[in-house]
Amino acid sequence: MTRIDEIVNGIYRISTTLEINGGFQFNQFLIDDERPALVHTGMHQMYEGVRDAVAQVLDPGKLEYVILLHFEADENGGMDRFLEGAPDSTLACSALSNDLNLSGWNYTGRVEGRRDGEVIDLGRHKLRFLETPHVHHWDSMMLFDETTRSLFPSDLFIQGGDQPPVVTENLGSEMCGLYREVGIFAHEGPVRRVVDRVVALDPDWVHGMHGGSLTRESLPDFVRALREEPFAYEGKLLGRPVE
Ligand SMILES: [Fe+2]
Ligand SMILES: [Fe+2]
Repeated sequence: MTRIDEIVNGIYRISTTLEINGGFQFNQFLIDDERPALVHTGMHQMYEGVRDAVAQVLDPGKLEYVILLHFEADENGGMDRFLEGAPDSTLACSALSNDLNLSGWNYTGRVEGRRDGEVIDLGRHKLRFLETPHVHHWDSMMLFDETTRSLFPSDLFIQGGDQPPVVTENLGSEMCGLYREVGIFAHEGPVRRVVDRVVALDPDWVHGMHGGSLTRESLPDFVRALREEPFAYEGKLLGRPVE
């Protein structure tokens, strides 16, 4: 089941909970604006559910931006069909996602590779790109919407389980435990530098790909855990010990 909830001023969270380890959520964010944008598409097999959720708010054929924050199935497994179905749409990603991946893929649509500080003006919302390498991929980026002071951090500030649209609980230690179990970060260093950058941005909202959105009140618990607890790779991939 895919649900859609408006979180703040035209930013909608589309969320599907899959039965992985007792429940794990995959979110996409629809920004309803003069130039509508979809941040993450979900995986290939989630396309219909995500498209139907978008259609509850606006015509998916009117999307102007499909944005992926690093090259991975849950970010962009549905990109081909969203872009084909929206004639005025452009794929936006990091310059590295384009140079390392898309340029060597069978993708022939419009693409904009972005660098740190560049802004996409959607109308009311302005999305600033932050290059955040190794959080958790080489080509990783985040977005910061200046209007609602919303950060889109992709896989940072992750929560397992079936979370409500807005999370107020302190799940910081659980987050670090989940990161150690799945092994997505090679090292704490690059992540903690980005955490410092996030704190300096002083966001009102954090809309992650997995779990619920965090508010100004709940974010500090997650920041504290990332600064104080270990969360880097400890020899496990998706819970499986690796020699
Ligand atoms: Fe990822
Ligand atoms: Fe993800």
